[in-house]
Amino acid sequence: MSNAAQRIEEIRGALGSDLVILGHHYQHDSVIQHCDLTGDSLELARKVANLSARYIVFCGVFFMGEAAALLVEPEQKVFMPDRTASCTMSEMAPGPLVGNVMDWLKSSGKTIVPLTYVNSSAAVKGIVGANGGATCTSANAEIMLQWCMGRGDAVFFLPDKNLALNTANTLALPDSLRMVLDIRRGGSNIQPDVVREKQLLIWPGCCSIHAARFKVRQIEEARVKHPDCTVIVHPECTPEVVQASDVSGSTSTIIRYCEDAPAGATIYIGTEINLVERLVQRYAGEKNIVPLAHSACQNMAKNTEDKLADLLDDIAKSHEKGTPTKAEPVTVDPGTAANARSSLERMLEACA
Ligand code: 13P
Ligand code: SF4
Repeated sequence: MSNAAQRIEEIRGALGSDLVILGHHYQHDSVIQHCDLTGDSLELARKVANLSARYIVFCGVFFMGEAAALLVEPEQKVFMPDRTASCTMSEMAPGPLVGNVMDWLKSSGKTIVPLTYVNSSAAVKGIVGANGGATCTSANAEIMLQWCMGRGDAVFFLPDKNLALNTANTLALPDSLRMVLDIRRGGSNIQPDVVREKQLLIWPGCCSIHAARFKVRQIEEARVKHPDCTVIVHPECTPEVVQASDVSGSTSTIIRYCEDAPAGATIYIGTEINLVERLVQRYAGEKNIVPLAHSACQNMAKNTEDKLADLLDDIAKSHEKGTPTKAEPVTVDPGTAANARSSLERMLEACA
């Protein structure tokens, strides 16, 4: 066991139920091995809302830590091993620009219900909550898109255009009723007349880890090499890749798919490499799990075992001495928090 691993386990033992460590499936095994709870974005949001621990350590990217901070009680504190672990997709939708575009869309005179993927800042969730909208994850985008459609004339989906288009395809929403928005010039390029004709208005963001690295050609090559294989990809992949695959779903759906596959199955997976490599090892000799391509999220990787050990040292010292931690807990500005929390709670209630 590494020195960091030993320190982490000692502190986990000493803090007992005062500490809970959560880890997203894209974390490296060296971090995952110390997590009390693992999951996809939806599962982690559900789990965090029911925790009673004083210190919650979130190993994931910043929007996940922020969502956790919105869902815990005021006396609970959320920490991250590396707060600079951002999500490049969430950065493609800065709060002020989203606010401008939302106002511009509303000026069309239609009732526009915003729906943000949880991969967005608390500021964006606040705008969405204030406008009667909700959040979704890759595990419930269909349910939440229908939820929003039932509440207005059109849905403003952000920030992932691929998740929006893939979900619209699953719901068989015609192409003529969708539009990827031109968000330049604060949204003023968007023609109100065109907006009035559409039911799904889409922010042009994406995840480079999924959208740029997985290609239809790789799926075609996989099928030539292993004609009996199946291919499962994350819905942040492009619609072309999702359509060429057999199944698409959240990280937990991918894990369950591998679990349920018969012995001897060959499964190609299009998602972040840490999860795929964990599945390769878990099923070695039993099922043939193959990465469709090697694609790593550099931000998820910022949470290392050493940083986790240092954070826990800091928390343990502060706990013992009754002094503040050196690490800054994740907090959300109170002016934003109530609306941002509402957007998350609407999702958790709709998908209970
Ligand atoms: P999940 O919703 O599957 O956890 O995915 C989150 C994510 O960031 C994928 O890139
Ligand atoms: Fe964000 Fe993509 Fe990393 Fe997921 S994989 S956290 S969407 S950058």
